Amino acid sequence: MDKHHVIPLITEAEIAARMATLAREIAASVGTDIMVVSLLKGSFMFTADLIRALHHAGVRTQVDFMTLSSYGARTESSGSVNLAGDMGGDISGKDVLIVDDILESGRTLDFAARTLKARGATTVKIAVLLEKPGKLQVPMEADFIGFTIPDKFVVGYGLDYANHYRELPYVGVVSTP
Ligand code: IMP
Ligand code: MG
Repeated sequence: MDKHHVIPLITEAEIAARMATLAREIAASVGTDIMVVSLLKGSFMFTADLIRALHHAGVRTQVDFMTLSSYGARTESSGSVNLAGDMGGDISGKDVLIVDDILESGRTLDFAARTLKARGATTVKIAVLLEKPGKLQVPMEADFIGFTIPDKFVVGYGLDYANHYRELPYVGVVSTP
């Protein structure tokens, strides 16, 4: 792939500090037993850190995964959400927390929330690591937001550009030199 520079936007230390406060916010309003539904691939790293922070905040979690995709290998959303891989378990009667990497058009989370409500979740709340304001295409509000960022394409900490950069321990902006 072409060479890109990644300019750090949110550091590893900032992410770690926010994780602890975010977990306490979730513990205070969702309860002590929650079903986490993590949307792959982008939220795997956030989910791993968040459930450990939730543990420290006194919350017991069960975790399942759904693979949703809307981007392909581009930096613009294609507009339709595809359920590429479904979760294994039953969520009826459970308090669900959907965990995603970023809220942009809102289509991914709208699709996920509708799907999980239709399957009988008692409550469905949403936690996102990042929010890019002003880009919603459907009405959607996250209950818990890690960081609000400017309208730039970001990578790292699970987020990708054409499936690269997910391994970065920080969130950064890609620029072509
Ligand atoms: P939405 O459906 O438009 O809200 O987009 C959400 C999905 O698009 C996220 O789960 C990401 O996978 C992807 N996405 C949106 N913005 C970015 C970005 O800046 N970098 C990498 N992926 C992004
Ligand atoms: Mg994603």
